[in-house]
Amino acid sequence: MRKIPTNSPAARRKAELPLDLDGPHVTPGSSSQHRLYQALCHAITGGIAKPGEPLPPQRTLAKQTGFRRNAVTSAYERLIADGFAVATVGSGTFVAARIPARVNDARKTKIAIEAPQQGALALGCTHIDERALQRFRAFAGRRMRAFGNEHLQYGDPRGSRELRAAIADHLLSARGLRCDPDQIMLASGTQHALRIVLGAILKPGDQIWCEDPGYPAARRAIGHCGLRPVSVPVDASGMIVARGRALAPSAGAAYVTPSHQFPLGVQMSMPRRLELLDWARDAGAFVIEDDYDSEFRYDGAPLLSLAGIDHLSRVIYMGTFAKTLFPGLRIGYCALPERLVGPVTTARAALDRFPGTLLEGAVADMLNSGAFAANLRRVRGLYREARDVLASTLSTASNGELSVPVPSQGLHLVARFDPSIDPLVAAKAKAEAGVAGWLLAETYFRARPLPGFVLGFAGHPIPQLVASAQRLAEASLAALRANRKANSGTGVRRLKSATGP
Ligand SMILES: Cc1ncc(COP(=O)(O)O)c(C=O)c1O
Repeated sequence: MRKIPTNSPAARRKAELPLDLDGPHVTPGSSSQHRLYQALCHAITGGIAKPGEPLPPQRTLAKQTGFRRNAVTSAYERLIADGFAVATVGSGTFVAARIPARVNDARKTKIAIEAPQQGALALGCTHIDERALQRFRAFAGRRMRAFGNEHLQYGDPRGSRELRAAIADHLLSARGLRCDPDQIMLASGTQHALRIVLGAILKPGDQIWCEDPGYPAARRAIGHCGLRPVSVPVDASGMIVARGRALAPSAGAAYVTPSHQFPLGVQMSMPRRLELLDWARDAGAFVIEDDYDSEFRYDGAPLLSLAGIDHLSRVIYMGTFAKTLFPGLRIGYCALPERLVGPVTTARAALDRFPGTLLEGAVADMLNSGAFAANLRRVRGLYREARDVLASTLSTASNGELSVPVPSQGLHLVARFDPSIDPLVAAKAKAEAGVAGWLLAETYFRARPLPGFVLGFAGHPIPQLVASAQRLAEASLAALRANRKANSGTGVRRLKSATGP
């Protein structure tokens, strides 16, 4: 055991061991020695008193708690008997170096939280240029030094007006969307904005059209709001509005990614956009436009946003800095039709009152100074290169078995096998290659999945992208060979896949 002299700082600290004598771990009405024992156990198992550290002298503890000295002595004796503490002659009582296993086990959490993917081909990664990061650090530092009263109080549920104004300017120049800063609400990302908006415009049990295949995280948010998602298939022109009308004509909303359908990457055609807006008007429904990656357009000018076409009448626009800056920032935003500003603001205030103010000023500085646009220009070039390398490596190393359309926008691509191939082949290949990214099948809800992968190319060094792509392509060839061999042996016909873009 580590021996700590009683006059050390740790010993002095233990003289003021914080004990909770009223918490749920203490049996009300039991003897004082028992309650003290339970409170000490709680402090030890909760890590407040750490293994090897001294417990307060008995006299001090009696004074601190108001219990009689012999109650303290009995509690300590029981701690020692149960293995939570040890007594050293002349030095006092210490927390045991090893706490009994049964207690340790009880403290171990059984909750398994899935860690976000990290390796090459993972989605959701970004690269922020070192110059942009330096500017961001400088802006954030300056803002912190000027930290004033306005940051110490409750704020507007929509977030700082300064950042909302900067976003309004950005939306007008980049997305052709004219809106007043008062129509903008900041949130900690699209996911959060979606929860707030859905809670304000729909009630549990309402139907909402969702693209199939589509973005699983949005689908989860929709489920958590108690809504009924209606899977509407997607073709080469985007969500098939006629199918939506047939499946759920009076749904309350539609969630779409019109500029770059997630995951397939198709762009919603103008006739489809108009069809969708017509339905929304007929049904009195809203359209939620998730415009998650339009800033990364590689060829040609970006299309006008759906909200821009609709002049923010029925469309709620959502954007995020998770891709244009970095996901850890946790700042996203939505632009709202005027009549929704009141209800959405009220819903936000009821949820988490208002967004944290610390980094809003620095993000506004990035936008207003041009550092944001400069970063986008630089990383767009890097992403284009990464996109091309990934697409060509996959297609060459798989001998053309994987078809890899090169996306004109965004940070991911889709690599597909022939639709006649069983999606399990893709699952086997991915598991064998041990790479990040998703199976295309993970983004399907009702429609029969196409066999393939959804792979992120942004924010990963090129050599790692190439190595992972090669491993995946080789594993794909091996899985295909095994599948063909098994089929030729049994004469089983392969699954025919449903329509896809
Ligand atoms: C379709 C889609 N929408 C939105 C986002 C951004 O989500 P958030 O702002 O919650 O991080 C992503 C991120 O990967 C996405 O793929």
